[in-house]
Amino acid sequence: MVPAPPNYQFHDLQPALADFRREVHAGLSAAPRRIAPKFFYDAAGSRLFDAITRLDAYYPTRTEIGLLRAHGAQIAALLGRGATLIELGSGSDVKIRTVIDALAPAEYLPLDISGVHLDRAASGIARDYPGLQVQAVCVDYTQPFDLPPTAGAHRVAFYPGSSVGNFEPAEVVRLLQRVARMVGPRGRLLVGVDLKKDAARLNAAYDDPEGVTARFNLNLLVRMASELGAQIERDAFAHDAFYDASRGRIEMHLRAVRPTAIELDGARYAFSPGESIHTENSYKYRVDEFVALAEASGFVSERVWCDAERLFSVHCLRAAA
Ligand code: AVI
Repeated sequence: MVPAPPNYQFHDLQPALADFRREVHAGLSAAPRRIAPKFFYDAAGSRLFDAITRLDAYYPTRTEIGLLRAHGAQIAALLGRGATLIELGSGSDVKIRTVIDALAPAEYLPLDISGVHLDRAASGIARDYPGLQVQAVCVDYTQPFDLPPTAGAHRVAFYPGSSVGNFEPAEVVRLLQRVARMVGPRGRLLVGVDLKKDAARLNAAYDDPEGVTARFNLNLLVRMASELGAQIERDAFAHDAFYDASRGRIEMHLRAVRPTAIELDGARYAFSPGESIHTENSYKYRVDEFVALAEASGFVSERVWCDAERLFSVHCLRAAA
């Protein structure tokens, strides 16, 4: 075992484990049927998501990295150096390293529900930046919690990847209100938000020709079979992803292609052809729509950076005084 670097601490705030079995029964009994996207991310699902971020069709990751690199100096000027940098969801290594290089924070606190992934990523950062204090916090950041004491001159939160798009707009307001309290008056939030665009581009990003997103979605059935012992005819379901322009969101479904049933713990959930389990929403925003949500949450918009094609946006928000 590699010893933890001296500038590294791990805090386990013991996030309540979501009860997969209970939520699958509840979701399959609901109308319409649904299972929350948080259940995508077992080890195989996390690997598949990594593969998605490298696909040609999935533009968000490389576009956001391009924006962070191109505007690093301006971002640092607004967010300030010597901060306590709090990352919601310990995500892409490339993104956080780009931000750390630009901001030279005093302290870095990645928050993530998955302890193993968090520990691996955060201890790696601590090793590579020996002058940076790293406190990894294993927590469900969508729920109220107390941050450990921090020492930076001020607090800055970083929420990349348009993960904010996987929540309903009303939930986004509640989450951002908590982030505003976390960073304190005049604290900043740097948040990546995917933009509305033509349906063909969006549909391709969520239904790539290589079929990686399909495997990511269908992996939920693999998990249900292997972890819960569900009886599932996996080839009776197909990946379905489409942009609903009226709602401004991508919807992902697992859709039955023939009559079938899922059996779990003696319960039988029958599907007619075309019936689905709704597995994810990924909301897309216009810049002004997201600014309105941020303002409803207690933030002021300071600066927005978009790429030349206006595919993706990075917002710098300041918590109201
Ligand atoms: C994690 N989240 C921001 C991704 C998204 O784009 O909504 C998850 C994803 N689902 C399919 N492809 C990527």
